[in-house]
Amino acid sequence: MPHYLVLVDQPQLKRSGTRTTNQPKRISKQQGEIQRLYDDAKLRYNQSSWSSLLETLLSAKNRPTVNKIVSLGLGSLYEKSRDQSRRLKQLAMLLGVADYLRLKGSPEIAIYAQDPSFTKADDAFLRSLGVQVLKTPSPSDLGEAGRIIDDKTLLYSPFLTMEAYELLLKNCAMELLLGDDFSVLRSKWEKHTAEHKQVELLMKSGVSKYQRRAIRGDGFWGEEDWHFPMALYWRPSQRINGQTGARNEKAMSQFDQVRRLREDAPRSRL
Ligand SMILES: C[S@@+](CC[C@H](N)C(=O)[O-])C[C@H]1O[C@@H](n2cnc3c(N)ncnc32)[C@H](O)[C@@H]1O
Repeated sequence: MPHYLVLVDQPQLKRSGTRTTNQPKRISKQQGEIQRLYDDAKLRYNQSSWSSLLETLLSAKNRPTVNKIVSLGLGSLYEKSRDQSRRLKQLAMLLGVADYLRLKGSPEIAIYAQDPSFTKADDAFLRSLGVQVLKTPSPSDLGEAGRIIDDKTLLYSPFLTMEAYELLLKNCAMELLLGDDFSVLRSKWEKHTAEHKQVELLMKSGVSKYQRRAIRGDGFWGEEDWHFPMALYWRPSQRINGQTGARNEKAMSQFDQVRRLREDAPRSRL
């Protein structure tokens, strides 16, 4: 396999929180391609209204403070399929959120990722971006992630399996969850189907304890990704300095109204 020498410059690395030297690094052609796709997704994320909305939602006053982000179910990034681009976008969003939280005052935030389908190449790529890889013996086990998720964790789980969500909501105490929009997911299935019932049960048993805001925005999550709706969930009644953050919630309701108006307007392709 051909190898390339790339000189990774320091300012670029600062945003991703990765290596600390600017020594030339030997990488494979495939890793170079993944890196390029990832860089492109990260740029689009940073420039999108999707990231602006997400950052507004994360910065509302009543959001819990977190010191780590745990990603579950990112899927293999190297696997060549029509899912690859979406997975790299999910990775870009994960690191974009970490960048934002670090800038906002949590510089020590740690990033972890776990997926039983990660290959060695996935592990190496994630580590090169400063992500610590966790292991699980099987999909029906929360593995190492289950042992570190606590109330200071932002759980990041776009399109994790329903089975893993069930385990998660039953056994873990995270205060903040960025993942599937279960309300939209439920409405995608006919009422009598097993899938509808499964999402319904999940919502009744665990998700209903959280408040939810849907995430929408242009320039990043394209038409091809709209089958994968996302939302931010957090536990209510967090009081910070005696305030409930109600003003921010009001501001967000207005934001939602504007968003709805925009959604009703015809969309152009990205
Ligand atoms: C439907 S796929 C979604 C993959 C990716 N997020 C996407 O949008 O294409 C669900 C993923 O959850 C992973 N998964 C299942 N059980 C898990 C567990 N216990 N811990 C972490 N990941 C898990 C699977 O391996 C799979 O990659």
